[in-house]
Amino acid sequence: MTRIETPVADVDPAPSADDITDNSPARYIARVSLSTGQELDERVEPDELLVHAHRDHHPIEVAAQFLASRLIQITGREQAVRGGLRFVNDFAGWTADTAGSLLGSPLLTQYAKKAMGVTARDYGFRFRETTHYSEREVRSRIERLQKQASAALKARGKSPKLRVLLTGATGFLGKELLCQAAADRRIEELVAVVRPETVRDPKTREVVRVLSPQERGEILLDRLFIPSASRKKYRFVAGDIEQPLLGLDPGELAKLSKTLTNVIHCAASVSFDDPYDKSFRANVLGSRNALAFSLALQEAPGSPFIHHIAIETSYIHGRKKASFAQEESLVFPRHFYNNFYELTKAMASIETDRFMIEKGLRVSQLLPSIVIGNSRTGNNRGDTKVVNAPINAFGRSHEAARKASRSPIDQARTRAVAFVAQGFPGDPSAELNLVPVDRVVAGILAALTAPDAIGNRIHLATDNRIRSIDMVRICREELGVAVRLTDPTVFRNLTLPIVKAVLEKLNEPKLANAIEKLGTIFGGYSEWGQPIHRVGNDVRMLGLPLRRPNTEHAFRMLCRHNRYVQEFGKIRDLEEIARREKVWDTLVDDIELETGHEAGAIPPEEFRQFLEEKIDLRAFQARRKSPASLGRRSGAAIERARGRA
Ligand SMILES: NC(=O)c1ccc[n+]([C@@H]2O[C@H](COP(=O)([O-])OP(=O)(O)OC[C@H]3O[C@@H](n4cnc5c(N)ncnc54)[C@H](OP(=O)(O)O)[C@@H]3O)[C@@H](O)[C@H]2O)c1
Repeated sequence: MTRIETPVADVDPAPSADDITDNSPARYIARVSLSTGQELDERVEPDELLVHAHRDHHPIEVAAQFLASRLIQITGREQAVRGGLRFVNDFAGWTADTAGSLLGSPLLTQYAKKAMGVTARDYGFRFRETTHYSEREVRSRIERLQKQASAALKARGKSPKLRVLLTGATGFLGKELLCQAAADRRIEELVAVVRPETVRDPKTREVVRVLSPQERGEILLDRLFIPSASRKKYRFVAGDIEQPLLGLDPGELAKLSKTLTNVIHCAASVSFDDPYDKSFRANVLGSRNALAFSLALQEAPGSPFIHHIAIETSYIHGRKKASFAQEESLVFPRHFYNNFYELTKAMASIETDRFMIEKGLRVSQLLPSIVIGNSRTGNNRGDTKVVNAPINAFGRSHEAARKASRSPIDQARTRAVAFVAQGFPGDPSAELNLVPVDRVVAGILAALTAPDAIGNRIHLATDNRIRSIDMVRICREELGVAVRLTDPTVFRNLTLPIVKAVLEKLNEPKLANAIEKLGTIFGGYSEWGQPIHRVGNDVRMLGLPLRRPNTEHAFRMLCRHNRYVQEFGKIRDLEEIARREKVWDTLVDDIELETGHEAGAIPPEEFRQFLEEKIDLRAFQARRKSPASLGRRSGAAIERARGRA
């Protein structure tokens, strides 16, 4: 009998949906008494771990938040203002307590606190310890894992050839990974785990066809213009991260257990408004399945497995209000999480630590911040998530206002709509950590041959953060849109309800919902007191260049790309986006070659002149053969020009 060599299947497949009958956060997070530090025996509800559950409960508290943000803008002294807020809150609480005890009336204390909006919790939250081992023991275990990975890598010779399994290949980061892998000589095979895609008619929502994983893969390689010589290194196999062992076919598992050297787990649900259960299934259960899969590979006899790379997010540190988020440590954030996406990614990170320390899985954790398009071109292959969403919404509302019919009523109405649509909750001083996708993926690929990265959390983020006020200025310069920043507290409590009512009156219910969604979902990232994600491990451990991409230039190129290539999200056909991005790539090469400057450093007017001279914007085609597309004299010349820039 031929026993299918599936050491993978022999190993306990570990976590599956059935194992996690209870998806309560209590597996990762404990409620503790603030006075004794002891764990309290009470359920932890997912909702109470989010920011919104702890604010805007009282008019005085809302006013205090608004005042604090003004004071920070005037004085620039965030710590002091926050300390002041705490003092006022504590003082009001003390007054209520004293009055109540002098008059012997606890009820009075209660009423007084309520009337003054005193916020007081006698409990907090903390992450559960990921291990019962001492720090020394943990360190020695990690060193052992690093040595094992180093030996497994060395065993593959001087120029090791790698066979990598990737989840999330059809996503934003995944596509860039496929692209960069084409030119990466270390990668001999890339096996992408993909689920089938149901294509529906956009209008009727009827199912038009179902694309198999292999069909999706072929389409993807075409759209990414992967050269035919590299195409044979890719294989697309059916799977689902929410299933044990990634839902892979047993025959495939048997093959992979003998060949795979690395797993990059990149798939997730990156939606800021998903309900808890959905985020938990994709992000926590999905990660557990991927970790268990890698552990089974690692333990398979004769396995060439080196290590697992978990893609997380630097926002697992949640809301820390202007304090540093260190790379190594993970502490439950004092100011909670913005959404279930962040919360469940943090839970997955704890799960990853447990697999490493308790079960001995060789794993490194890479944590990108907010990922935007390519640092030079802004290209994002049709991604419309995260920062792209508000930029596209501003652009669309501005264009609608410009194109309004001549009727004065219509014009007034469209202008009014554009005016409300261009107000955005954000503190001018808030700093956002944006990182271009090419830098992130360079980091992920570098980790493949960096055994020292095992046991570490590595932020793939920037050290040149961008302020909301600068983003607004760039939007004005690049898109002509005068975005107005509104204080986030005022926006939530006052502006949004009014704007919604106005838009509904103007018969724009869809826009009203979109604005509510944009404001509440993304506003959290542009309030004052954003965490400062420390960087350094990307250079130290992964060997990435010390000079991180210029965020202002990258954001400028994002705006230009979304305006001309994506037409603010109106071009939905990914085929067409792919064609346009190729034209755009060549355009940027040409401009850089001609000017000797990064395209993002070129002022908007000058860039626009180049654009009109070189591209027929209606057909989105090059007007004539460009130097960069002629005979690839460009390759070296562009690199030289880039070196000069
Ligand atoms: N984008 C950012 O700004 C950002 C920032 C920090 C960290 N990250 C992290 O980077 C990773 C990739 O993010 P992204 O922006 O590329 O996400 P994305 O564009 O939304 O792509 C998500 C990918 O995950 C796949 N996926 C989801 N559920 C799956 C399942 N059950 N089985 C198989 N595949 C599944 C999707 O496949 P389908 O095509 O079949 O849906 C898609 O390929 C995530 O771990 C995310 O947390 C992203």
